[in-house]
Amino acid sequence: MCGIVGIIGGEPVAPLLVDALKRLEYRGYDSAGVATLEDGLLARRRAEGKLVNLEQRLKDDPLDGKIGIGHTRWATHGVPNETNAHPHFSDDVAVVHNGIIENFSELRTELKADGYSFASQTDTEVIAHLVSREIKSGKSPVDAALSAIRRLEGAYALALMFTQEDDLIVGARNGPPLAVGHGEGSMYLGSDAIALAPFTNVITYLEDGDRAVLTSSSLVIYDADGQMVERAQQKSVGTAFLVDKGNHRHFMEKEIHEQPEVISHTLAHYLDFAAGTSNAIDMPFSFADVDRLAISACGTAYYAAHIAKYWFERFARLPVDVDIASEFRYREMPLSKDSIALFVSQSGETADTLASLRYCRSQGVRVGSIVNVRDSTIARESDVVFPTLAGPEIGVASTKAFTCQLSVLAALAVRAARERGKITAEEENQLVRQLSEAPRFANQVLKLEEQIEKISRELAQVRHVLYLGRDTNFPLAMEGALKLKEISYIHAEGYAAGELKHGPIALIDEQMPVIVIAPFDRIFEKTISNMQEVAARGGRIILITDERGAAKTDMDTLETIVVPDVPEIIAPIIHALPVQLLAYFTAVHMGTDVDQPRNLAKSVTVE
Ligand code: M6R
Repeated sequence: MCGIVGIIGGEPVAPLLVDALKRLEYRGYDSAGVATLEDGLLARRRAEGKLVNLEQRLKDDPLDGKIGIGHTRWATHGVPNETNAHPHFSDDVAVVHNGIIENFSELRTELKADGYSFASQTDTEVIAHLVSREIKSGKSPVDAALSAIRRLEGAYALALMFTQEDDLIVGARNGPPLAVGHGEGSMYLGSDAIALAPFTNVITYLEDGDRAVLTSSSLVIYDADGQMVERAQQKSVGTAFLVDKGNHRHFMEKEIHEQPEVISHTLAHYLDFAAGTSNAIDMPFSFADVDRLAISACGTAYYAAHIAKYWFERFARLPVDVDIASEFRYREMPLSKDSIALFVSQSGETADTLASLRYCRSQGVRVGSIVNVRDSTIARESDVVFPTLAGPEIGVASTKAFTCQLSVLAALAVRAARERGKITAEEENQLVRQLSEAPRFANQVLKLEEQIEKISRELAQVRHVLYLGRDTNFPLAMEGALKLKEISYIHAEGYAAGELKHGPIALIDEQMPVIVIAPFDRIFEKTISNMQEVAARGGRIILITDERGAAKTDMDTLETIVVPDVPEIIAPIIHALPVQLLAYFTAVHMGTDVDQPRNLAKSVTVE
């Protein structure tokens, strides 16, 4: 994953590189580095850990060069230390890289035999040596870079800089995204347009296989076949300002609190509340002509898709296959031309989701995406884009993007039901009205914070937690477990409550907190029976239910979190909030890095 940036400017670029890297830190934060040309010679500063460490290094030992490249790392090859931090050098060449060079081992052996020695454990260092070897054979830096890049197999977005070349950066893209920004007498290269937003909003997105030769006043692009090509310039919508935490301790807390508002914006985009209809946006197809939906996504977005499966099948009688994208991309699922493939992604850059999308395109299937980042690769490669209007999500743990994804999917499920004639206009009207109430109920749930904070003190003492739910609460249980483990490092599992007796019940003892998500729905009694089974074995139950559910059960629980009674279609959206808050406060009590938990990155652009 990693974020890369390159700048040819008329002023010292080190502070600008750091500014751009701050916007790319969501891609990784194991280490960071920048290199500039000082009197024609390569110089670099690198630091293990977050960007603040690199900033300090630069304060102690500044760089003045007016051309430079920078990197923020999510380690793939080699531990996250300073030696493995980018940029990597070889004689006259510096490189930063996002991705994985799959044939690095073979190239390393070849280069070692040629007398090159390696300072790092990374796959990236082979690129610097390959280019350097080409230069030594007499090629110009550009020709050397282009021929070295032809030897690379795998995924890469690269930026290269050369000794004595104070007006030249070479970039290349094979897989991970790369954008060029056009300034006045300056040129920029970055993993995304948001990184370049403080400098320019005029962007050229490189296509897969492209190589780019940048000077302060020109951009030349070659495609994968080496042909010179034109790529359009576009106006980016990325904000020039870094989003801040406001009065909140963490971005995650802020983003949880933003949910009533962003859910409301998102729903209003798809639903006509005044008319009570679900067809507020134009669409290039009707669900009446669709025989199957194939939805794939990763992580939290996958759980949103899994919840949506229940909605599309229940309300619209439309069969849905839902897959983890890293599985879908290789399982060669047969798809009919009457299917629609939907991809759900906050970032719009997740490598496995993008690869699944491309598989579907290659099969001639229509492709739609539900994305939060409008300029993203997944959005640009989709036939139809369904935006979530969550605003920038900075916390690595996805919260508001999740409930906005659910909002879009619920609105589409209602539309599908209507277009397929499975609900009447009155029923559509009622569902739209129920959806319109989600922001108000979400607001009410946020008032339970104090109680949830107290419960989470207990959770912070344990090493294992089980989440149970049925129906849409089953994927929500898995989402709760994911949220808890990623930010508090407590082991957690989400299970279908009915599946408990087929194995996981063996885990239950007096130490094991079991979080049961059970609103008063059509299968409430069934979930409560499963809860009894846990209680009978001494398990400590934390029940998340609604007012009707609380009134119907007299079981002893460790704690019961009671949310308002809400209509079935919005229940997963509303119950997501206590689940998020439990994870958030537990992590706060554990003292972990809530917004940038260990080993993770916000956007996963490698396989
Ligand atoms: O950007 P995406 O929605 O495609 O990302 C997918 C997952 O990487 C993401 O949801 C991840 O699981 C989150 N950290 C969960 O909170």
